[in-house]
Amino acid sequence: MIKGVIFDLDGVLVSTDEMHFEAWKMLAEELGIDKFTKEDNKRQKGVSRMESLEVVLSKGGRIYTATEKEEMAERKNNFYKELLAGLDENAILPGAVDCLKMLRSRGILIGIGSVSKNAPLILARTGLMEYVDKVSCGLDITRSKPDPEVFEVAANKLELKYEECLVVEDSLAGIVAGRAAHMKTLGVGTEYVQLRADYEAPGLNAHIDWETILEV
Ligand code: BG6
Ligand code: MG
Repeated sequence: MIKGVIFDLDGVLVSTDEMHFEAWKMLAEELGIDKFTKEDNKRQKGVSRMESLEVVLSKGGRIYTATEKEEMAERKNNFYKELLAGLDENAILPGAVDCLKMLRSRGILIGIGSVSKNAPLILARTGLMEYVDKVSCGLDITRSKPDPEVFEVAANKLELKYEECLVVEDSLAGIVAGRAAHMKTLGVGTEYVQLRADYEAPGLNAHIDWETILEV
Protein backbone atom coordinates (compact mmCIF):
# COMPACT_ATOMS: atom_id res chain seq x y z
CA MET A 1 0.00 0.00 0.00
CA ILE A 2 1.30 3.43 -0.95
CA LYS A 3 1.59 5.89 1.97
CA GLY A 4 3.73 8.56 0.34
CA VAL A 5 4.16 10.09 -3.10
CA ILE A 6 7.56 11.57 -3.96
CA PHE A 7 7.44 14.07 -6.80
CA ASP A 8 10.30 15.19 -8.96
CA LEU A 9 10.04 18.98 -9.31
CA ASP A 10 11.39 20.25 -12.69
CA GLY A 11 9.04 19.08 -15.45
CA VAL A 12 6.61 17.35 -13.07
CA LEU A 13 5.22 20.05 -10.77
CA VAL A 14 6.76 23.14 -12.41
CA SER A 15 7.77 24.18 -15.92
CA THR A 16 11.33 25.19 -14.91
CA ASP A 17 12.91 22.61 -17.25
CA GLU A 18 12.41 25.18 -20.04
CA MET A 19 14.42 27.72 -18.04
CA HIS A 20 17.21 25.19 -17.42
CA PHE A 21 17.42 24.72 -21.19
CA GLU A 22 17.48 28.48 -21.85
CA ALA A 23 20.24 29.02 -19.29
CA TRP A 24 22.39 26.18 -20.69
CA LYS A 25 21.87 27.59 -24.16
CA MET A 26 23.12 31.00 -22.99
CA LEU A 27 26.25 29.37 -21.58
CA ALA A 28 26.75 27.29 -24.74
CA GLU A 29 26.56 30.43 -26.88
CA GLU A 30 29.17 32.15 -24.71
CA LEU A 31 31.45 29.17 -25.22
CA GLY A 32 30.90 29.23 -28.98
CA ILE A 33 29.01 25.91 -28.91
CA ASP A 34 26.14 26.22 -31.39
CA LYS A 35 25.25 22.54 -31.66
CA PHE A 36 23.53 22.27 -28.26
CA THR A 37 19.85 21.45 -28.91
CA LYS A 38 16.58 20.46 -27.21
CA GLU A 39 17.45 16.85 -28.03
CA ASP A 40 20.69 17.15 -26.01
CA ASN A 41 18.66 18.76 -23.22
CA LYS A 42 16.72 15.52 -22.78
CA ARG A 43 19.93 13.92 -21.46
CA GLN A 44 20.19 16.67 -18.82
CA LYS A 45 16.83 15.89 -17.25
CA GLY A 46 17.17 14.56 -13.73
CA VAL A 47 20.95 14.73 -13.64
CA SER A 48 23.09 17.09 -11.56
CA ARG A 49 24.33 20.52 -12.60
CA MET A 50 27.89 19.27 -13.21
CA GLU A 51 26.71 16.26 -15.22
CA SER A 52 24.42 18.54 -17.23
CA LEU A 53 27.43 20.75 -17.99
CA GLU A 54 29.25 17.74 -19.44
CA VAL A 55 26.36 17.27 -21.90
CA VAL A 56 26.88 20.85 -23.15
CA LEU A 57 30.68 20.53 -23.32
CA SER A 58 30.40 17.24 -25.24
CA LYS A 59 28.92 19.30 -28.10
CA GLY A 60 32.09 21.42 -28.33
CA GLY A 61 35.59 20.19 -29.00
CA ARG A 62 37.56 21.62 -26.07
CA ILE A 63 38.91 20.21 -22.84
CA TYR A 64 38.52 22.34 -19.68
CA THR A 65 40.03 22.21 -16.20
CA ALA A 66 37.95 21.39 -13.12
CA THR A 67 38.15 25.04 -12.02
CA GLU A 68 36.92 26.27 -15.40
CA LYS A 69 34.02 23.82 -15.21
CA GLU A 70 33.09 25.02 -11.72
CA GLU A 71 33.02 28.58 -13.03
CA MET A 72 30.88 27.58 -16.03
CA ALA A 73 28.38 25.76 -13.81
CA GLU A 74 28.13 28.80 -11.58
CA ARG A 75 27.63 31.04 -14.62
CA LYS A 76 24.82 28.84 -15.86
CA ASN A 77 23.25 28.90 -12.42
CA ASN A 78 23.39 32.70 -12.41
CA PHE A 79 21.63 32.79 -15.80
CA TYR A 80 19.08 30.30 -14.44
CA LYS A 81 18.48 32.35 -11.29
CA GLU A 82 17.90 35.45 -13.40
CA LEU A 83 15.21 33.51 -15.27
CA LEU A 84 13.80 32.29 -11.95
CA ALA A 85 13.49 35.87 -10.67
CA GLY A 86 10.02 36.22 -12.19
CA LEU A 87 8.89 32.79 -11.01
CA ASP A 88 5.49 32.53 -9.34
CA GLU A 89 2.47 30.20 -9.21
CA ASN A 90 2.03 30.56 -12.98
CA ALA A 91 4.95 28.15 -13.41
CA ILE A 92 2.99 25.35 -11.74
CA LEU A 93 2.07 22.71 -14.31
CA PRO A 94 -1.63 21.97 -15.00
CA GLY A 95 -3.23 19.58 -12.53
CA ALA A 96 -0.36 19.67 -10.03
CA VAL A 97 -2.12 21.54 -7.20
CA ASP A 98 -5.36 19.54 -7.53
CA CYS A 99 -3.34 16.34 -7.47
CA LEU A 100 -1.40 17.35 -4.35
CA LYS A 101 -4.60 18.43 -2.58
CA MET A 102 -6.37 15.19 -3.49
CA LEU A 103 -3.49 13.04 -2.23
CA ARG A 104 -3.23 14.96 1.03
CA SER A 105 -6.99 14.66 1.59
CA ARG A 106 -6.48 10.88 1.44
CA GLY A 107 -3.77 11.05 4.11
CA ILE A 108 -0.93 10.46 1.65
CA LEU A 109 2.37 12.12 2.60
CA ILE A 110 3.99 14.31 -0.05
CA GLY A 111 7.73 14.36 -0.65
CA ILE A 112 9.93 16.13 -3.19
CA GLY A 113 12.82 14.20 -4.76
CA SER A 114 14.80 16.60 -6.95
CA VAL A 115 18.54 16.77 -7.61
CA SER A 116 18.21 20.55 -8.03
CA LYS A 117 19.91 22.71 -5.43
CA ASN A 118 17.35 25.40 -6.33
CA ALA A 119 14.39 23.21 -5.29
CA PRO A 120 13.70 25.00 -1.94
CA LEU A 121 13.70 28.39 -3.71
CA ILE A 122 11.32 27.15 -6.44
CA LEU A 123 8.95 25.58 -3.89
CA ALA A 124 8.84 28.82 -1.93
CA ARG A 125 8.37 31.09 -4.96
CA THR A 126 5.54 29.03 -6.47
CA GLY A 127 3.77 28.50 -3.14
CA LEU A 128 3.97 24.72 -3.59
CA MET A 129 5.70 24.25 -0.24
CA GLU A 130 2.26 24.55 1.37
CA TYR A 131 1.40 21.08 0.02
CA VAL A 132 4.72 19.37 0.73
CA ASP A 133 5.68 17.41 3.87
CA LYS A 134 9.40 16.80 3.22
CA VAL A 135 11.97 17.92 0.66
CA SER A 136 14.95 15.90 -0.54
CA CYS A 137 17.04 17.92 -3.01
CA GLY A 138 20.49 18.49 -4.44
CA LEU A 139 21.61 19.93 -1.10
CA ASP A 140 20.92 16.60 0.68
CA ILE A 141 22.71 14.18 -1.64
CA THR A 142 26.09 13.26 -3.07
CA ARG A 143 24.91 11.12 -5.99
CA SER A 144 22.50 12.25 -8.69
CA LYS A 145 19.74 10.21 -10.40
CA PRO A 146 19.79 7.44 -11.68
CA ASP A 147 21.25 6.69 -8.23
CA PRO A 148 18.32 6.14 -5.80
CA GLU A 149 19.80 8.36 -3.05
CA VAL A 150 17.50 11.38 -3.52
CA PHE A 151 14.37 9.18 -3.22
CA GLU A 152 15.76 7.16 -0.31
CA VAL A 153 16.47 10.40 1.56
CA ALA A 154 12.90 11.58 0.83
CA ALA A 155 11.40 8.32 2.14
CA ASN A 156 13.62 8.45 5.23
CA LYS A 157 12.52 12.03 5.94
CA LEU A 158 8.88 10.98 5.52
CA GLU A 159 9.62 8.02 7.84
CA LEU A 160 8.21 5.57 5.29
CA LYS A 161 9.55 2.29 3.94
CA TYR A 162 10.77 2.55 0.34
CA GLU A 163 8.10 0.05 -0.78
CA GLU A 164 5.42 2.39 0.61
CA CYS A 165 6.41 5.19 -1.78
CA LEU A 166 5.46 6.06 -5.35
CA VAL A 167 7.82 8.19 -7.44
CA VAL A 168 6.43 10.63 -10.03
CA GLU A 169 9.00 11.49 -12.70
CA ASP A 170 9.46 12.96 -16.18
CA SER A 171 13.01 11.72 -16.76
CA LEU A 172 14.45 8.32 -17.55
CA ALA A 173 17.20 8.83 -14.95
CA GLY A 174 14.46 9.46 -12.38
CA ILE A 175 12.43 6.37 -13.25
CA VAL A 176 15.59 4.22 -13.06
CA ALA A 177 16.37 5.84 -9.67
CA GLY A 178 12.86 5.17 -8.36
CA ARG A 179 13.07 1.51 -9.40
CA ALA A 180 16.51 1.20 -7.80
CA ALA A 181 14.96 2.48 -4.57
CA HIS A 182 12.31 -0.31 -4.80
CA MET A 183 9.55 2.24 -5.29
CA LYS A 184 6.65 2.14 -7.77
CA THR A 185 6.93 4.70 -10.55
CA LEU A 186 4.54 6.98 -12.44
CA GLY A 187 5.98 8.49 -15.62
CA VAL A 188 4.61 11.86 -16.82
CA GLY A 189 5.55 14.59 -19.30
CA THR A 190 6.18 14.79 -23.02
CA GLU A 191 8.32 11.62 -23.06
CA TYR A 192 6.10 9.59 -20.72
CA VAL A 193 5.69 6.60 -23.07
CA GLN A 194 9.45 6.10 -23.45
CA LEU A 195 9.98 6.11 -19.68
CA ARG A 196 8.47 2.62 -19.27
CA ALA A 197 7.29 3.38 -15.75
CA ASP A 198 4.87 1.14 -13.81
CA TYR A 199 2.11 3.66 -14.51
CA GLU A 200 2.01 6.47 -17.04
CA ALA A 201 0.13 9.68 -17.91
CA PRO A 202 0.95 12.64 -20.16
CA GLY A 203 0.53 15.02 -17.19
CA LEU A 204 -0.99 15.40 -13.74
CA ASN A 205 -4.09 16.90 -15.38
CA ALA A 206 -4.69 13.67 -17.34
CA HIS A 207 -6.74 10.75 -16.06
CA ILE A 208 -4.71 8.81 -13.49
CA ASP A 209 -6.20 5.77 -11.79
CA TRP A 210 -5.14 6.72 -8.25
CA GLU A 211 -7.46 4.09 -6.71
CA THR A 212 -5.43 1.32 -8.32
CA ILE A 213 -2.05 2.98 -7.79
CA LEU A 214 -2.52 3.74 -4.09
CA GLU A 215 -3.93 0.36 -3.15
CA VAL A 216 -1.01 -1.66 -4.56
C1 BG6 B 1 17.05 18.60 -12.26
C2 BG6 B 1 16.95 18.99 -13.72
O1 BG6 B 1 15.81 18.67 -11.65
O2 BG6 B 1 17.97 19.48 -11.58
C3 BG6 B 1 18.34 19.00 -14.35
O3 BG6 B 1 16.13 18.05 -14.38
C4 BG6 B 1 19.25 19.94 -13.56
O4 BG6 B 1 18.24 19.40 -15.69
C5 BG6 B 1 19.29 19.49 -12.11
O5 BG6 B 1 20.57 19.90 -14.10
C6 BG6 B 1 20.19 20.35 -11.22
O6 BG6 B 1 19.59 21.61 -10.99
P1 BG6 B 1 20.28 22.84 -10.27
O7 BG6 B 1 19.14 23.79 -10.04
O8 BG6 B 1 20.88 22.34 -9.00
O9 BG6 B 1 21.32 23.34 -11.20
MG1 MG C 1 12.29 16.35 -13.99
